[in-house]
Amino acid sequence: MNDGQVAIVTGGSRGIGKAISLELASSGRRVAIVYKSNRDRALETLKEIESLGGEGDIFQADVTKWTDIEEVVKRVLTKWGRIDILINNAGITKDKLLFKMDEEDWDEVLDTDLKGAFICTRLIARHMIKNGEGRIVNIASVIGEIGNIGQSNYSAAKAGLIGFTKACAKELSRWNITVNAVAPGYIDTEMTSILDESIKKEYLSRIPLGRFGKAEEVAKLVLFLVSKDASYITGQVINIDGGLVM
Ligand code: NAI
Repeated sequence: MNDGQVAIVTGGSRGIGKAISLELASSGRRVAIVYKSNRDRALETLKEIESLGGEGDIFQADVTKWTDIEEVVKRVLTKWGRIDILINNAGITKDKLLFKMDEEDWDEVLDTDLKGAFICTRLIARHMIKNGEGRIVNIASVIGEIGNIGQSNYSAAKAGLIGFTKACAKELSRWNITVNAVAPGYIDTEMTSILDESIKKEYLSRIPLGRFGKAEEVAKLVLFLVSKDASYITGQVINIDGGLVM
């Protein structure tokens, strides 16, 4: 099934990244779970993959560090000999109003959410060329399209990621590598669990489907985008947000 394809998922041990890792493994791909610091969490996800009959491994790396990602690529190629799919999922928020946001808050979010995707794509896409095709999916956000109070850094990073997606789609199409972005709305994960109840209620009132999304729902969309059925889709941003943005 899926020709023994190999997928790299950054931030693959929890939340949306975990759901994507499980979905990819269930569909027969071998999954490299890239995690930043919580090894136990990554091992738990790997165990879940194995209990589903899937194959994977865990790789500690910080997506903002070239040498870390170079090492992941080396190890994945030694282990499995190929890379077919890259999911740039790792991301953080550091919400503050503009006049309270310092340079460090800005840099950390831009480095992780935008530069991290550049580093991974730059180092990994070249290894897709010899397979005659490749799939890259960037996990952006509707906030990159509509902006949000207290999220100027995150909005800029995710808007940047959308532009990056389109440029890469144009550059890499000659090698049959598709590059798309998925823009989730509010998804129930640890990232959103920290939100104030009053803020959650306000967001809910703006979502036509009347609920937050599930990580598994995002993962199903990603699964479609990496499949052969999505071979003619590239450079697109697909919202998955219960109708929040339309
Ligand atoms: P999460 O906080 O549960 O997961 C983020 C993952 O990224 C964690 O595993 C974290 O360790 C990893 N990570 C962070 N910095 C890293 C680094 N420097 N190197 C390697 N890994 C790193 O959050 P969630 O909700 O699963 O988010 C996943 C992606 O989806 C993020 O890019 C987020 O911006 C995006 N997103 C989430 C939404 C939501 O409502 N939860 C909505 C729209 C987009």
